[in-house]
Amino acid sequence: MPRILDGVAIGAAIKQEVTEEVRALAAIGIRPGLAVVLVGSVAASEIYVRGKVQACADLGIYSELITPPETVTTEELLCLVAALNAREEIDGILIQLPLPAHVDTKALLDAVLPAKDVDGFHPVNAGRLLAGRPALAPCTPAGIIEILRRSEIPISGQHAVVVGRSDIVGKPAAMLLLHQNATVTICHSKTRDLAAITRQADILVAAIGRAGFITPEMVLPGATIIDVGMNRITDRAEFDRLFAGDAKRTATFAKRGSTLVGDVHPQAFELAGAYTPVPGGVGKLTIAMLMANTVRAAKMRRGCL
Ligand SMILES: NC(=O)c1ccc[n+]([C@@H]2O[C@H](COP(=O)([O-])OP(=O)(O)OC[C@H]3O[C@@H](n4cnc5c(N)ncnc54)[C@H](OP(=O)(O)O)[C@@H]3O)[C@@H](O)[C@H]2O)c1
Repeated sequence: MPRILDGVAIGAAIKQEVTEEVRALAAIGIRPGLAVVLVGSVAASEIYVRGKVQACADLGIYSELITPPETVTTEELLCLVAALNAREEIDGILIQLPLPAHVDTKALLDAVLPAKDVDGFHPVNAGRLLAGRPALAPCTPAGIIEILRRSEIPISGQHAVVVGRSDIVGKPAAMLLLHQNATVTICHSKTRDLAAITRQADILVAAIGRAGFITPEMVLPGATIIDVGMNRITDRAEFDRLFAGDAKRTATFAKRGSTLVGDVHPQAFELAGAYTPVPGGVGKLTIAMLMANTVRAAKMRRGCL
């Protein structure tokens, strides 16, 4: 039976450690602070942001939620970011994506002070990550490393194959794995004979955004599979392709009309030595890593790291 890498338990352990760090900082008069900017009203973003603000409250981190209207201009948002950059009590600035189409997202992300860039999206932090210098790394890839490390899955010398090369998941995940001495292959939509490469993976990271894309014939038996994908499916035929015979999922699907699926086909997990489930895997660490990054930013800005 493959081992299930429990993102809920690992996320809770990280939050507990961050809480202790926040207490230690409080003892020397420092309270880390996070500003969250949520533009307009995208239902999914509102849910994510609520989770982030709640986590701050739970861990003792100061938080501020700023909610400009949908009609806000890039210039107005740049002014807001400049004001947050200048405020001493704000250690982290998070701009919830996606932004409305008329807003220049790149200009805005680039305007965040790298020292306060707790999402790790600023080119300076991307460069520092590449160069192996202390940086604020993107939360989801950092969470992947935490899952592997805390589950005592060796990384050094292993062949890690990352499918996906986005700036927020695939590329930084590959870089972090490389820094842990994995031999890393990055695959994408133009990769030839993808299955031949994924079958060589001791650690397979799927960050594609396509439900159940990694099928059993793409997996090396015994591999560790990290499924980053978060795909909500509503189509019955798609559901049956992935979950035929799974009574629990079928009941959820019947009740809600949808279910959350990763990028890995459930049958592919059966071949794994260990894997992160969806839900309950990588996604459960992202907020914990954001909290860790906020405390890290607070320490780095004050020269404590
Ligand atoms: N768990 C979490 O907290 C979390 C956080 C962020 C994202 N996610 C999820 O992770 C998944 C990936 O997110 P993302 O933001 O990285 O997505 P993205 O920006 O759309 O990138 C997807 C990547 O997959 C590659 N790809 C697409 N089709 C492919 C194919 N047929 N064969 C091989 N590669 C293919 C693309 O290649 P090209 O570059 O060639 O187009 C691209 O590099 C999504 O499901 C997202 O919801 C989860």
